[in-house]
Amino acid sequence: MADITIDEMAVFCKKKGFVYASGEIYGGLSGFFDYGPYGVELKNNIKADWWKFHVQQRDDVVGMDGSIITNPKTWVASGHVASFEDILVECVKCKTRFRGDHLIEDTLKISAEGLKKDDISKLIKQNNIKCPKCKGDLEEPKQFNLMFETNVGPVKSDSSKAYLRPETAQLIFNNFKLVQENARLKLPFGIAQIGKAFRNEISPRDFLFRCREFEQMEIEYFVDPKKTNECPYIDEVMSHKINVYSAEMQQKKQKHKEMTIKEFLKEKIIKTQWHAYWLAVEHRWFISLGVAAEKFRIRQHLPDEKSHYAADTWDLEYEFPFGWKELQGMANRSDFDLKQHILHSKKDLSIFDEETKTKIVPHVIAEPSQGVDRAFLVFMFNAYTQDPKNKDRDWIVLKLHPKLAPIKVGVFPLVNKLEDKAEEVYKQIRKDLPVTYDRSGAIGRRYARADELGIPYCITIDFDTLNDKAVTIRDRDTTEQKRVKIAELKSILSKLINSEIKFKDIK
Ligand code: GAP
Repeated sequence: MADITIDEMAVFCKKKGFVYASGEIYGGLSGFFDYGPYGVELKNNIKADWWKFHVQQRDDVVGMDGSIITNPKTWVASGHVASFEDILVECVKCKTRFRGDHLIEDTLKISAEGLKKDDISKLIKQNNIKCPKCKGDLEEPKQFNLMFETNVGPVKSDSSKAYLRPETAQLIFNNFKLVQENARLKLPFGIAQIGKAFRNEISPRDFLFRCREFEQMEIEYFVDPKKTNECPYIDEVMSHKINVYSAEMQQKKQKHKEMTIKEFLKEKIIKTQWHAYWLAVEHRWFISLGVAAEKFRIRQHLPDEKSHYAADTWDLEYEFPFGWKELQGMANRSDFDLKQHILHSKKDLSIFDEETKTKIVPHVIAEPSQGVDRAFLVFMFNAYTQDPKNKDRDWIVLKLHPKLAPIKVGVFPLVNKLEDKAEEVYKQIRKDLPVTYDRSGAIGRRYARADELGIPYCITIDFDTLNDKAVTIRDRDTTEQKRVKIAELKSILSKLINSEIKFKDIK
């Protein structure tokens, strides 16, 4: 990974057609982004791989797709109307608004995770903190609800008020009973969803990291409350290593520590097998797509940092250029949500347990919940490589995993005379894979353009092709080249992209 700041990444993403500020021709809108031609492909590939890995390749997880606006009672039951809040601090003079904890972190350089309104007020007074923009005085901190409000129907009134969902999770809880019955699910099982979420963040920042409209990939995983420590898959991950940063380590100002899941459980740093299992699975998903394992850690929330619904929460964090940041929150929500919906809807959301012949309200011990846009940033930072000292290749190379690369193959005729043959090869590949055809400029320039977009394999058609019916295939990451028969090309490309063979294995 190259040393690149988040602002430089935003510039790169715009220049190369990955991400733009939304409504840019009108000056943009803070916290909203549009994905360009390569960004939309990368984002779709991330979501598709997540779905395959978490839903299609498992027997115990099914999917659903809920609506963005739902009955607003949902958000009363979930607690979001009452307490989905951040602390707002406003400048008396220039009226700039700051998120209280970010203001404290930026000015005092201390962690402000979980600080309450009164703590922030006290720190502002004690340290005589002024507006970072105009040095004006700051107003008393206020609670600010992050949900976007809207009205449903033609009349705007209190009874038509609804919300854009701030998380996809509640749609899963709402539909829990229907999905469980329709898919004939037996505990333990998970329900997954990918979709948009909206939060009226006080100060969106760090490009895609904190936006007002974003996407989530979430699973609510339901288990029998008597079996929270009986994960039948735990042996699959016992030897998996991960950097652990417990609440105690944080309080003692220690560093995170690499541990196996076995040690993590044995030392009782985490309470349940299920929670440990899902943390390992989520780490493995990123590793399976080529991200360096050591760039992640799991951090336990401090007691006063936990959300209103959580019994224990661990974040999967990534070491971004702007620090270790939450990539994925994984809360033990226990039976909080189902119980709340039972209470507010007066519907029976329990399930019948054949073993004990009793009705039970399952617990969500692990809720793997992550932002697509944050994952997008991880893959981009992990892939972005530049070696200015390499005279032969001083340009940016985006080493995205072939499964994620927006375009998988580039086809180049060496000279214009070879275009007919090159187009024939291009059209053949296009039937199965996203491919680009580039005939302009020197071959080196074409490789550079392909590298910057993360195209993993480039095919060159040369004069020998006409005789030997073979082409040269170049590997983006090593620049190694091999000669391959056109008849075998599609099968080789597909195996390379699906990690079934390595480039060096091509005979
Ligand atoms: N259902 C649980 C839940 O929503 P969360 O920790 O508030 O938990 C889950 O959000 C994930 O959603 C985060 O870890 C992050 O990846 C993503 N996310 C949350 N707020 C975001 C924002 N403002 N911009 C981008 N991604 C965000």
